[in-house]
Amino acid sequence: MSKKFFIKTFGCQMNFNDSERIKGILRTLGYEPTDNWQEADLILLNTCTIREKPDQKVLSHLGEYRKVKEKNPKALIAVAGCLAQRSGWELVQRAPVIDIMFSSFNMHQLPELINQAQAGYKAIAILEKPPEDEDKVWEFPTERDNPYCAYVTIIKGCDKNCTYCVVPKTRGRERSRSMESILEEVKRLVDDGVREIHLLGQNVTAWGKDFEKPIPFSELLYQVSKVEGVERIRFTTGHPKDLTDDIIEAMADIPQVCNALHLPFQAGSDRILTLMDRGYTKEFYLERIQKLREHIPDIAMSTDIIVGFPTETEEDFEETLDVVRKVRFEQIFSFKFSPRPGTPAADMEGQIPDEVKTERMKRLLDLQKQIMSEIAKSYEGTVQEVLVEETKGEDQVIGRTTTNKWATLKGDKGLLGKLVKVKVLKASPFNLDCELLEVIR
Ligand code: 5AD
Ligand code: SF4
Repeated sequence: MSKKFFIKTFGCQMNFNDSERIKGILRTLGYEPTDNWQEADLILLNTCTIREKPDQKVLSHLGEYRKVKEKNPKALIAVAGCLAQRSGWELVQRAPVIDIMFSSFNMHQLPELINQAQAGYKAIAILEKPPEDEDKVWEFPTERDNPYCAYVTIIKGCDKNCTYCVVPKTRGRERSRSMESILEEVKRLVDDGVREIHLLGQNVTAWGKDFEKPIPFSELLYQVSKVEGVERIRFTTGHPKDLTDDIIEAMADIPQVCNALHLPFQAGSDRILTLMDRGYTKEFYLERIQKLREHIPDIAMSTDIIVGFPTETEEDFEETLDVVRKVRFEQIFSFKFSPRPGTPAADMEGQIPDEVKTERMKRLLDLQKQIMSEIAKSYEGTVQEVLVEETKGEDQVIGRTTTNKWATLKGDKGLLGKLVKVKVLKASPFNLDCELLEVIR
């Protein structure tokens, strides 16, 4: 009987994509997935440290998962991801039930680590820096749940020094994946039926800068668009400072690039932006948005915002609300500032009390709610292009518009993977009720 694995993933899309790769590696080792951790031979937690206190969460999961060894003493427990990177052996001391631990740099070593653990040794391989052969990981396939949309990691790490962020510490410096390797994976995915490619990285807009002969990210967009069968391209996350004119022009020029962009601004006050070391001003950010809209008038913007950064005053917060009012984002992801040990912002004077953060967050969300329902209304009666991804119930299907909104329409599994033209009958912030006009291809 084949061995089974169970994976639980926390955190960002990058972690999610790493888990897809880990699943691919385990498949090549003959493991099969299971949704029930109690019957797993390998349980893996892919962890995140970005905001909450992740240690407690992971320890409590480990407390539960350790029971797997009562029935199956040979079962292995592995911890990967950003918390593993940050805590290393310290975590193993607190949770001796851990058999395997590795960095996001050396996922490709998992087969050896499993061997080591099966031989009864603790297989802890947390590296300080990416190893020379890091690129080996691309030789493994990914295992995806969505047959039509796939993430493709194009750059790892981050060279920015945002003062609140742990990522540079957990994922290392920027390393761009080679154009050949990316295009090869894109071709493989398209051959496998994928129609939407989502390029992924902590800072995708910096892709190609670290090559001996630098290549602009806009060139990568062109090359990906030339792969036959790529119907849609998205990319996350970009940094406002690196969103150069050539990228905006390429987005407008390449028909497959979706009319949506996630561009975190974090805070509206120039003073707070300086304390965050973001490297731009409110005016610069708004100018980028204006430029985007000149070229792509109907682009749907989304963003990340941190509320209650140290020393944030009422006036500073008003500047954040002002950006939200001016840009009218389709979606915002807002977070209360969370001090991460070892980051400069965690030690800054003027930490904001939680009640103040909560109150500001509420005001931000109220404003956004209103904007979202106005934007939703503006969809009613329009014609949209939808990539059908899933069936829903007996006689409906769902998919996303190029602006990344979920749409529901009548149809059956014959529509899966098809690009269709629809008319929006009724719209709410998280769903568009649509009528099918035609199947495009
Ligand atoms: N506190 C709160 N939010 C944070 N983010 C990153 N670090 C922190 C922190 N220490 C948010 C940022 C980032 C998103 C992924 O998480 O908004 O864009
Ligand atoms: Fe979490 Fe950041 Fe690591 Fe993603 S990169 S898993 S958000 S800490």
